[in-house]
Amino acid sequence: MPKVFVTRQIPEAGIKILREKGFEVEVSEVDGVLPREVLLQKVKGADAILSLLTDKMDAELMDAAGPQLKVIANYAVGYDNINLADAASRKIIITNTPDVLTESVAELAIALIFAISRRVVEADQFMRDGKYHGWGPMMFLGNDLVGKTLGLVGLGRIGGAVAKRMAEGFGTKILYYDAKRNEELEKKYNLQFVDLDILLKESDFISIHVPMMPETRHLINAEKLKMMKKTAYLINTARGPIVDEAALVEALKAGEIKGAALDVYEEEPKMAEGLAQLPNTVLLPHIASATEETRSAMSELAAKNIIAVLEGEPAITPVKTA
Ligand code: GLV
Ligand code: GLV
Repeated sequence: MPKVFVTRQIPEAGIKILREKGFEVEVSEVDGVLPREVLLQKVKGADAILSLLTDKMDAELMDAAGPQLKVIANYAVGYDNINLADAASRKIIITNTPDVLTESVAELAIALIFAISRRVVEADQFMRDGKYHGWGPMMFLGNDLVGKTLGLVGLGRIGGAVAKRMAEGFGTKILYYDAKRNEELEKKYNLQFVDLDILLKESDFISIHVPMMPETRHLINAEKLKMMKKTAYLINTARGPIVDEAALVEALKAGEIKGAALDVYEEEPKMAEGLAQLPNTVLLPHIASATEETRSAMSELAAKNIIAVLEGEPAITPVKTA
């Protein structure tokens, strides 16, 4: 029977269907990211690996698994943890979990728009600290969304889902920048396609929805942050390295932008020095897809990709490796 190694405990849905297939499924018992040496040991002999975004999947690991390895199913939409060229040269199929998490991530990006502009976290802390001694006309003034412009950096599935909700739900004016124009969504949600600099200059809220690639590393750097309005907020639910985090700390300190709400960091789980001390930030531990519904669906989709490949069928959501 084919062997499947799952690098960490994930919701049961996927594990269950893998076991029902009769596969020999081993799930890591460590509550955390497996140390590299342990991971290299554990994958030995696996026909399939169900990996997390915290596991580096490269030539060394693929070779440690052995030539029988057919598929790596990443439990994430992003796959910047996987070396695609290494997979292609070994004819290993890579899959991800798109679509099932689109809405959860979009909802969290919108939650962050409100959390940062209405100072939800800061005000909550104020209550917990026992500092509330009565209503005040100048207390915790934030900013409205109504009348503002949202800039979407990236209009893929997730960016598109944010656009839909913001356009249909709040009637927000939306600009977007993407490598590809999408005239269908432009018409549907009344979006305006602009270049990145114009988006940065004209938006009040800027939300990032591009994947991590060499071309998107530090897409938002010190120079780009300076282009933003002093009253603007930056939201990142995509990948940390897209933003130069040290430059962001400086921009927030200097008042070059008004605030930032982040779910991802350049060197997770670390944060740039000074970030946590800034009151004009909302900081989450990479939870955009973390709902019971979505994580269960991701588990199932990753498992079904493995089953498809091991049964000689095309993967359901393959990643292009070459
Ligand atoms: C989460 O960050 C993902 O890529 O699914
Ligand atoms: C992910 O689902 C994306 O392409 O935005």
